[in-house]
Amino acid sequence: MKVLIVGSGGREHAIAYSVAKNKSVEKIYCAPGNGGISELAECVDIGAMEFEKLAAFAKEKEIDLTIIGMDDPLVGGIVDVFEAEGLRVFGPKKNAAILEGSKAFSKDLMKKYQIPTAAYENFDRAEDAYAYLETAKFPIVLKADGLALGKGVLICNTLEEAREGVKSIMEDKKFGSAGNRLVVEEFMTGREVSVLSFVDGKTIKTMTSAQDHKRAKDGDQGLNTGGMGTFSPSPFYTKEIDEFCQKNIFQKTVDAMAAEGREFKGIIFFGLMLTEDGPKVLEYNARFGDPEAQVVIPRMKNDMIEVMDACIDGTLDQIELTFEDNAAVCVVLASDGYPVSYEKGFLIHGLSAFDGKEGYYVFHAGTKKTDEGIVTNGGRVLGVTAKGKDLKEARANAYEAVTWIDFENKYMRNDIGKAIDEA
Ligand code: AMP
Ligand code: GLY
Repeated sequence: MKVLIVGSGGREHAIAYSVAKNKSVEKIYCAPGNGGISELAECVDIGAMEFEKLAAFAKEKEIDLTIIGMDDPLVGGIVDVFEAEGLRVFGPKKNAAILEGSKAFSKDLMKKYQIPTAAYENFDRAEDAYAYLETAKFPIVLKADGLALGKGVLICNTLEEAREGVKSIMEDKKFGSAGNRLVVEEFMTGREVSVLSFVDGKTIKTMTSAQDHKRAKDGDQGLNTGGMGTFSPSPFYTKEIDEFCQKNIFQKTVDAMAAEGREFKGIIFFGLMLTEDGPKVLEYNARFGDPEAQVVIPRMKNDMIEVMDACIDGTLDQIELTFEDNAAVCVVLASDGYPVSYEKGFLIHGLSAFDGKEGYYVFHAGTKKTDEGIVTNGGRVLGVTAKGKDLKEARANAYEAVTWIDFENKYMRNDIGKAIDEA
């Protein structure tokens, strides 16, 4: 069979790696892809938002399955365009991807179906938000309603900061139209955990847990990024917590979407906070996390294509998802200066050190193939993943493997997985 993957990050590289293991896959295309993905797939120069071009390409090449890795095309309705052309595609339709595309929608859904989440109010007008803040408790959390590259969340400690936040989101439109609506949310404290799941519209099967490190600098300092590293599983996500979430969050979300006439097929990523009052939903995403995929997928025993087929066909109840009884850690190698400004185009040395090394992976995010070799081409450049029998061993292995790679302006966090010492 022939597979097309839409996206260009480390997540898509991990998906391509997994898809390539399926014996019946004869050819993989990736649009637009990156330098590392080009080792496994033919990269095609079509942007992820060029739905008509992508569908025409899938028809021309007789693609059997298209996998959408990224949020923007899903929220924009790429799945509807493919399905209208009779093409087989993995991911939620537009009316279901809204679970990620609108935070106001997801909060209203959780309230209506009593899914635990922080208390909140939605606002369409800045004046109403300002008035609400006058009597609010601080810190408080402001969230732009739409997609904002993970940057549309502001935690405000004072009334003054919150007023500035409302102005920047709703009036100055710092995140564009994503700020046409605003969610103002109660501030919660606790450990964060990411639980990803496959969904076929009715049945949900959760994957192993993971934890991301969103801030740029050690000790969770610095700006929010797309994610600087991950570990899996999370030792804080216990069996009791899982039981609670299965009962009160996961299946309830799938049922709520179905009841709203928004059948969800694809991946639901639950961003959870383990608070003193129990687990609560911070956010939903409608796709694999990046870099969560880089620690979850290498531990998955199932055939990715088989699971995705079951999601599309509504037969997920017949699949048992299984994960290796080990751990994985991913350390992101970024360009110094990310997420603000950074140089690119530097040659990357040492990639071949990973060839044939079982349990070690180098997933490319911002890289490009040139005549001289693979060069840096983005803020997050590579995700170096290593497995180990437990989290400590996986972390030691990952921090050993990052020394094999060298490029100018290489930057990483040195404390990915430090939290596991407290478990
Ligand atoms: P989100 O994109 O909604 O996951 O928010 C990004 C990050 O902001 C989360 O990973 C949390 O660290 C933080 N955050 C979001 N909502 C809250 C909240 N209600 N209380 C405390 N922190 C939050
Ligand atoms: N790592 C967080 C995300 O993919 O949204």
